[in-house]
Order: sequence, then structure tokens, then C-alpha cells
Amino acid sequence: MNFLEKLKNWQDLINQRLERTLPASSVQPKVLHQAMRHSMNAGGKRLRPILVLAAHDIFPNRLDPIPAAIALECIHTYSLIHDDLPAMDNSDLRRGVPSCHKAFDEATAILAGDALQPLAFEILANSYAGDPQLGLDLVCMLSQTAGSQKLVGGQMQDLLSEGKDPDEQSLSYIHSNKTAAMIETSLQMGFRVGREGQNSKKLTQIGRAGHSLGLAFQAVDDLLDVTQTTEQLGKDAHHDCESGKITWVSLKGESEARLLAAQHTENALQAVIDLGGDCQFLQDLIRYMLNREF
Ligand code: IPE
Ligand code: IPE
Ligand code: MG
Ligand code: MG
Ligand code: MG
Repeated sequence: MNFLEKLKNWQDLINQRLERTLPASSVQPKVLHQAMRHSMNAGGKRLRPILVLAAHDIFPNRLDPIPAAIALECIHTYSLIHDDLPAMDNSDLRRGVPSCHKAFDEATAILAGDALQPLAFEILANSYAGDPQLGLDLVCMLSQTAGSQKLVGGQMQDLLSEGKDPDEQSLSYIHSNKTAAMIETSLQMGFRVGREGQNSKKLTQIGRAGHSLGLAFQAVDDLLDVTQTTEQLGKDAHHDCESGKITWVSLKGESEARLLAAQHTENALQAVIDLGGDCQFLQDLIRYMLNREF
């Protein structure tokens, strides 16, 4: 199977498992479950859950990495729902459809995001109960990365920096935490489920790869905001400049940002190769993430 076929298979698999995991739209309160499904089912590239599966595949075992992948996507989708709120980025379009607060209302969007968070931890606790240490480790990894010194901290600084003169230190903090932390944790959680999961040296090493990949990913996101159309992105284009965001593009310009994305991608590739194991798919995925068009 070639890279794109495997990517598509995994996206389908993740979508099927998400479909089975989220409460049905007919469950009370219906509007809340409809809102959760609206944002989750709108699509999305599913890159974080696929990173979980790809990292597990380097040293695979019989344990199922999919619940870990689904948990990551729950946290990610919640973060997008809240990121779009009027009090944050005020974005009306997400994944090609109206953002959650546009399709429903603000209170429902806040609550839909809220509800996706405990769901992530419930999935981990239930699915890895047979190996309590593994379950605990995964809960610990995901809760840390979603917390005030990682994802939420990065989002806070992103808002605090709006309209300010761009400076490199704030930008590094924002990118490392709002984006790279979740990507790093996706790789680490997948790896932790696998055969070498208790090898702390390798776990740190794959974290390094994830950090570089995450920095590349956000640099590309910032670039796509200026180079693509709203239609291509499925979210509002030129939004960063209009809302005074600090990005690599606003700090250093487009070609420097492109160079940076390529450098971080190279660092990620090297770190993955140094792990040993079967990392061909992950290498292809890292290159694909650099060259993506949305
Ligand atoms: C968007 O992430 C948020 C960022 C961290 C830039 P993705 O580009 O992975 O969004 P989806 O999941 O495909 O919608
Ligand atoms: C958001 O970054 C990262 C999150 C944690 C959700 P952005 O604000 O740049 O993401 P987009 O461009 O709206 O997807
Ligand atoms: Mg934002
Ligand atoms: Mg945004
Ligand atoms: Mg963006």
C-alpha cells in the first residue's frame, strides 16, 4: 500500500471510531451532542490521531493505539471550537462549515468544547484499564499537554500578543505551546502504547521529533493563511493579519517562514530516523505535512 492509500485508510478508520465514540445526536441534550458532532464530523485532516498510529507503528505490538488517537482528536477539536469563539479568534468558518458558535450559539459551542475534554480522558481510562500504568501515563501526558503551561498557555499568549509588535520570544512560546505540544504528545502517546513505550530515551527522542514537526506545522499554518483562499482552507484566510496576530510571516516574512518550516521538518525527520524501527510512513507523513495545501 502506498503512502496516500494508507493515510486515507487511517483517516477512514479514525472517522469510524469517532462516529462510534461520540454520543448520538438523539441523546439528551440533543443540541449539545449535535454541536459536538457538527465540529467533529465536519472533516479535518485527522493529523494528530494519524501521528499516534504512525508512532505506534514504529515498534508495534498488539495493543490498540486508536483510543489514544481518538482522545487526542477530542482535545484538538475542542481547542478549535473554543479558538473560533468571538472572545478568541472570532472565526466564522471551520473545516468548511460554519464554526460551532455560528451553526449553534456561543453558549452551546463553549459547552460542546467543554464536553469533548472529559470524553478524551474517559476514553483513555476505559480503553487502557487492562494496563493501568499505561492508562495513567497516557492520561498524564494528555492532561499536561492540554493544560495551562502548554496548549491553553499558548492560546493565552496568542491572545495577549494580538496587536503587539511581533517579537521572537513570544512567538516561540506561542508556537511551542499552542501547537507543537499537542503534536509532540501525539507522537509520544502512540509510541508509549507500542513495544518500546517504556524506553524513556526513545520517548524523549520522539518527543523531540514532535516538537520540531509542531513548529514546522504552525509555520505552515501561518503561511497558508496568507497564500491560500478561504475556500481552499475551509477556514477564514488572511485572518491573522486582520486580527493582528504575531506569526512567522508577520515577524520575518514569507520566504523566511518557508525556510524555517523546511528546517524544522528536516530536524523532525532526522530525529525520527535516529529512533530506528520502521519509520517510513512517519517520514512520508512529516514531508506531507510540510507540503500540504490546507
Ligand atoms: C488547526 O489544526 C489548528 C492549528 C494548530 C494550526 P489542523 O490544521 O490540524 O486542523 P484540522 O484538524 O485539519 O481541521
Ligand atoms: C490555533 O492556532 C491553535 C489551537 C490550539 C486551536 P490558530 O488560531 O492559528 O489556528 P487556526 O488557523 O484558527 O486553525
Ligand atoms: Mg488562534
Ligand atoms: Mg484561529
Ligand atoms: Mg492559523
